[in-house]
Amino acid sequence: MQELILKLCYLFGSITFILGLKMLSHPDTAKKGNLVAAFGMGIAIAGTLFLYHQGDLSEKWINLIWIIAALAIGTVIGTVMAKKVEMTAMPQMVSLFNGMGGACAAIISIVEFQHLMHMGVDVSSEGLKVLTILSGLVIGTVSFFGSMIAFGKLNGNINDRTLPGQQVVNIGLLVIIVGLLVAMLSGFTGVDISILFWVLFGVSALYGVLFVMPIGGADMPVVISLLNSFTGVAAACGGFLYDNPVMLTGGILVGSAGTILTILMCKAMNRSLTNVIVGAFGGNKTGGGADAQAGGAYKEISMNDTAVLMAYSKRVVIVPGYGLAVAQAQHICHELEKVLEEKGVELSYAIHPVAGRMPGHMNVLLAEADVPYEKLKEMEEINPEFSQTDVVLILGANDVVNPAAKNDPSSPIYGMPILEVENATHVIVNKRSMKPGYAGIENALFFQPKTSMLFGDAKKVLQDLVAELKSM
Ligand code: TAP
Repeated sequence: MQELILKLCYLFGSITFILGLKMLSHPDTAKKGNLVAAFGMGIAIAGTLFLYHQGDLSEKWINLIWIIAALAIGTVIGTVMAKKVEMTAMPQMVSLFNGMGGACAAIISIVEFQHLMHMGVDVSSEGLKVLTILSGLVIGTVSFFGSMIAFGKLNGNINDRTLPGQQVVNIGLLVIIVGLLVAMLSGFTGVDISILFWVLFGVSALYGVLFVMPIGGADMPVVISLLNSFTGVAAACGGFLYDNPVMLTGGILVGSAGTILTILMCKAMNRSLTNVIVGAFGGNKTGGGADAQAGGAYKEISMNDTAVLMAYSKRVVIVPGYGLAVAQAQHICHELEKVLEEKGVELSYAIHPVAGRMPGHMNVLLAEADVPYEKLKEMEEINPEFSQTDVVLILGANDVVNPAAKNDPSSPIYGMPILEVENATHVIVNKRSMKPGYAGIENALFFQPKTSMLFGDAKKVLQDLVAELKSM
């Protein structure tokens, strides 16, 4: 009976993961989806703790005390971090949490391998089990070390660094990993298998570090999403090993969702996945060719002129970017939208897939201010509409509107699809200075005749603009 209830707990957990994931696909239901999946996970954990029986009862209680103490510590740390984190530091946090998942999967493999050794099991006779353990070790270790480097880079503690012949080194490490796996599984080692196990761990850790080290700038989100899918696969290995359906389902869902997101982001940034894996490119912050020297004269626009231009427009498009999140100006931005609509202006938001610092950053930011979701238009949908737009107001966005991505082959962001704002009649850019954006390159858009700069912190500028429009 107890076993049946435990199985039902796992089934319930698996179903809530799928439902939760489905609900995450729309901002209106995303929060609830997260809670539904977390509740299912809670039931699966509680079921495992109290309904799973193995070994004698006193040992079980000692284990329970350890597990509950670890859960309590983890819950407190996780809750405090999640409550305190700034919206702009979310990618670092995702990286850190993802790394913890990878570490768990690697630790499971280490414990299970030691257990096999302790029992004196002949490794080559337990092929599938050992393959699962070693796969969990490699993928989990790469994910943990890669995520820690990604965290350090996004947090500004580690700089982009490329070794001479980086691609060859990375491919060489992958070949060594595969070689070690084949040798260990086939039993043709001639060396103590426990030593090979730790060598495999060390090479995987080195690969995790070197794989992420040279990648920077505009390519970082792809790596984080890829590492996320690695963690999912590593967790699925654990599920397979323990014959635990909820761990397997959760792992497979994270692995496949992460892979799909990686592919979508690669497409959005025009990067190939193979290049990411061998660390072939880096978002070198000093890059930039002809457009890097674009320079020249730019013109400024006054608050009053901006208000007049916008109030008498038929169609206005707002392009939100990282700076809008930094300024936390989403609420006043929504206020601007309402004021303009009262004046009969048709308004929409142009959402670039990698605007901000994480997938869906702008969608979440605007949803926080109750901006209606129908007003958010994806890049493919809005690009043909810019030619019928009177004013584009760019709020703290830079790289995602940089024409160098289209016309400067030497630019680090060359090939990334961009929002084609230059097709509108007027372009107004709000930022605090002429400093570059995340990719560290100059933006020729700012020097074009139809572009005007409206300098200042996005929140302050929008407050003044709304006041100006209201007084008209
Ligand atoms: P960015 O290119 O980073 O430009 C943001 C601009 O906002 C900066 O030029 C900055 O100029 C301005 N800014 C900063 N604080 C501001 C404030 N308080 N008020 C007004 N402006 C402010 O942003 P983007 O166009 O959104 O592009 C995103 C970049 O990040 C892309 O290169 C993308 O590849 C990369 N990236 C994306 C992700 C994901 S998945 N979304 C993750 C990691 C990296 P001033 O300093 O002059 O104000």
